[in-house]
Amino acid sequence: MSAKQHVLLMLEKNKGTSVSGAKLAQDLSISRNAVWKAIKTLQGEGYAISAVPNKGYCLSEDNDILSNESIMPYLADNLKNVKLEVHKSVTSTNTLLKELAAAGAEEGKVLIAEEQTGGRGRQGRQFYSPPNTGIYMSILLRPKLTVEDALFITTSAAAAVAKAIEMVTGCEAKIKWVNDIYCNGKKVCGILTEAGVDFEGGGLEYCIVGIGINVARPVEDFPEELKDVATGIFENRMYSADLRSRLAATILNLFWEYYREFSGKAFIEEYRKRSFLIGKEIDVLTGDRTEQATALDIDERARLIIKLTDGEIKALTSGEVSVRVR
Ligand code: BTN
Repeated sequence: MSAKQHVLLMLEKNKGTSVSGAKLAQDLSISRNAVWKAIKTLQGEGYAISAVPNKGYCLSEDNDILSNESIMPYLADNLKNVKLEVHKSVTSTNTLLKELAAAGAEEGKVLIAEEQTGGRGRQGRQFYSPPNTGIYMSILLRPKLTVEDALFITTSAAAAVAKAIEMVTGCEAKIKWVNDIYCNGKKVCGILTEAGVDFEGGGLEYCIVGIGINVARPVEDFPEELKDVATGIFENRMYSADLRSRLAATILNLFWEYYREFSGKAFIEEYRKRSFLIGKEIDVLTGDRTEQATALDIDERARLIIKLTDGEIKALTSGEVSVRVR
């Protein structure tokens, strides 16, 4: 870590209170001048740091910039080594991480951006990713799973995100199979999982879990075509400044717990419990065809069990279909 990163980490840990230049210099084993330079650079990058006479430097409680240093204090101890990179603006964290995966990056690399200029959603759609109001995050995995079992990655990520949203914000979060998270009846998060296949071994070479969350965005800020279906967890922007950092860290903490214990499938219960669809009348869209059905359950393989109007019971896997609540 550079001197600037160390200074920022100390200020993040003491957010809202002043830390003297002398203490920063002593604890970080750098000169007072190096502290001053780091503060100037951080201020230039937009960090709300004030210099309080006779007290030192204070990072404002209202400072809401996502950074490695703002997220790290909330990561579980066994995740402190996660290779986190936070960017101001990228085309797409999934695209960028795919390039890094192809170049040999290790499992556990995480990219987060304040903005995406080419955010991607499922089925070739765009994912609207304006600056400073969301979390756009991609996680690189190198799991020993077959391509079929990759569905567990998406579903465990959905369970982790929904649980984290509820823990950190208090908003009830539901999952619309397969991977959309809903609060107050509207979508607040989508997940795009992309994989590189090892053709010789027949398994996955890598897997990228891309998570996009609308944290603080009023409905009127969404593009016209999304206004009826999407929302922010907080529509009115009233939320505590470190909330996005806490949410990002909590998602990583929970996801990693599930991922380590994958074979036990502890996440399936969490996933099922939060299902938005079970018991609802739905339309099942397969290519050009739409069928009416009732959603009955989510099974141990995270498939959606449905009953068609003629009584036939079917188990749906994600690749084939999408569903719409009637
Ligand atoms: C969907 O709702 O269709 C899935 C949206 C997934 C968006 C996330 S944001 C981080 C990552 N980077 C992307 O370009 N997409 C995913």
